[in-house]
Amino acid sequence: MMQTTFAIIKPDATLAKHTGKIIDLIEKEGFEVVGLKKVHMTQAKAEEFYAVHNARPFFGELVSFMTSGPCVLLALRKENAIAAWRDLMGATDPAKAAPNTMRALFGTNVGSNATHGSDAPETAQTELKLFFPELV
Ligand code: RTP
Ligand code: MG
Repeated sequence: MMQTTFAIIKPDATLAKHTGKIIDLIEKEGFEVVGLKKVHMTQAKAEEFYAVHNARPFFGELVSFMTSGPCVLLALRKENAIAAWRDLMGATDPAKAAPNTMRALFGTNVGSNATHGSDAPETAQTELKLFFPELV
C-alpha cells in the first residue's frame, strides 16, 4: 500500500549538519520527498506535537531539545512508508539501533536521536495535518 509518513530531522542532526546525508539516504531507500520545510519550532508547537508524552518525566527535556534548533520536516511517500521509515530510523535509543540506521549513524543518546517518524497511519495523518496541512 502506498503511504505518506511524517518525518523530522531533529535539531541535534540539523545543527551537526547531517541534513544532506540523511535526505540522501532517504532518497536512496526509494522514498519520494513530497514535502520539505525547515522550521524552528515554538515551545507551544513542540508541546502539541509530543502531547502524547506530556505526563512522562522526560517531557520538559524533550520539548526543550526539539526547540533547541531548527528541524527539517519531511513528508515521505513509499510503499508501506510508515514501517519502512521506522525501520530505516532504527530503535529510539541509538545504542540499541541496528547498524546503518539513522539513529545508529547520527543519534547521540535516547533523547538526542536525530530523527522522528510517525508510528501508525492515524498518527501520520495527525502529524501531517499539523505540519503539512496543504498536503492532507
Ligand atoms: P519519535 O516519536 O521521536 O519518532 O521516537 P520514538 O517513537 O522512537 O519514541 P517515543 O517513545 O515516541 O519517544 C519520543 C521521543 O522522546 C525522547 N525520549 N526520551 N529520556 C528518555 O528516556 C526518552 N525516551 C524518549 C526521544 O527523543 C524519543 O524519540
Ligand atoms: Mg514516537
